Amino acid sequence: MPMRSVPVSEGIHWVGAVDWNLRDFHGYETPRGTTYNAYLVQGTDKTALVDTVKLPFVPELLSRVSTLVAPADIDLIVVNHVEPDHNGGLRAAMDAMPNARVVASSSGARGVAEYHDGLEVDVVGADDVIDLGGRTLRFMPAPMVHWPDSMFTWVQESKTLLPNDAFGQHMASSQRFAEEVGLDLALEELDIYYANILMPLGSQVAKAVERVAAAGWEPSVIAPSHGVIWRGESLAAALDAYARLTAGETREKIVVVFSTMWGATRLLADAVADGVAAEGVEVGVYDLAESTLAHVTHQLLDARALLVGSPTLHHGMLYRVAGYLQYISGLKPKDKIGGSFGSFGWSSGATQQIVERLEQIGFELPFEPYAQKFKPTAEELEAAREWGAQFARAVRDM
Ligand code: FEO
Repeated sequence: MPMRSVPVSEGIHWVGAVDWNLRDFHGYETPRGTTYNAYLVQGTDKTALVDTVKLPFVPELLSRVSTLVAPADIDLIVVNHVEPDHNGGLRAAMDAMPNARVVASSSGARGVAEYHDGLEVDVVGADDVIDLGGRTLRFMPAPMVHWPDSMFTWVQESKTLLPNDAFGQHMASSQRFAEEVGLDLALEELDIYYANILMPLGSQVAKAVERVAAAGWEPSVIAPSHGVIWRGESLAAALDAYARLTAGETREKIVVVFSTMWGATRLLADAVADGVAAEGVEVGVYDLAESTLAHVTHQLLDARALLVGSPTLHHGMLYRVAGYLQYISGLKPKDKIGGSFGSFGWSSGATQQIVERLEQIGFELPFEPYAQKFKPTAEELEAAREWGAQFARAVRDM
């Protein structure tokens, strides 16, 4: 019994795979799993498969395709993106689709060759049109959304945009559309995905969205390569969310992250947060031993300050704190201020190390770190509250 395919819009079906148990996507925790979406586009003359799936899921892809057409009858495979979650299964899919021409962007064609032992595929770009018979495919290079090779495919008559990673979310579900899983959940996962994958690429994402509009493409459906599909009111909400995200909008909010050895830095974190809240500024406190990096990074997305706490161990910060700072360094959070705090026994190296790392990442540090010896006294906790409060006042002025 083949697995089902799902109609998306006129002439287009979802034929992807659901990875229910994925819990880590190259370091980004995915408690809800993910999907690898592929779409079958059928014209009167030809059939195209837009994107394939991660290698272990090719049997699932082929099963779903077979509900609509024999895989051997597929004429075209479009590779929108060569990252292995989409392109890993290309060679195996091609084995089942021996008559298919394969196309990718120019950078994508080079990537396919590198991933697949010199496999040669055709290059398509913004000037190319492929007519499937009443169903026309157009292409738009979208470099750095998410890799240099990334490309959007537009199915003109179906008014459907297939933008690969853009507008994606890591979320497994039996439903395929945002309104079916609930718009709030879909938008939350859209934000989490953007924070953990696309945050450093906001200007490229914004330009790609602008190019879609400039090309006169007015999608009624945006069907990404991960998670649920956007249409109707959910599509408008997703576009609004991307406008907000790519603009880097922030609000009066501070994120406090810490790790602790014997509880002193936790006491400081709570006092710092209390000082922030007392000034009427939103604050969230995250123990890195308990919180996922993806969740804390999502919280950082619209915050104006990041305050990082660590005790000193062997003259430096705890490894969890170093790991978190390394995680966000590639995500290049912009226009935020930072600070460091922590307890120490006989040397206060951690707070200075955090200062240096935050500066490297691009944070401005308007205030000195707050370092405190052994267990904080009542007076020291009051000083930590005031240390937090000064950041709250600063973010109100940003
Ligand atoms: Fe879903 Fe950049 O791959």
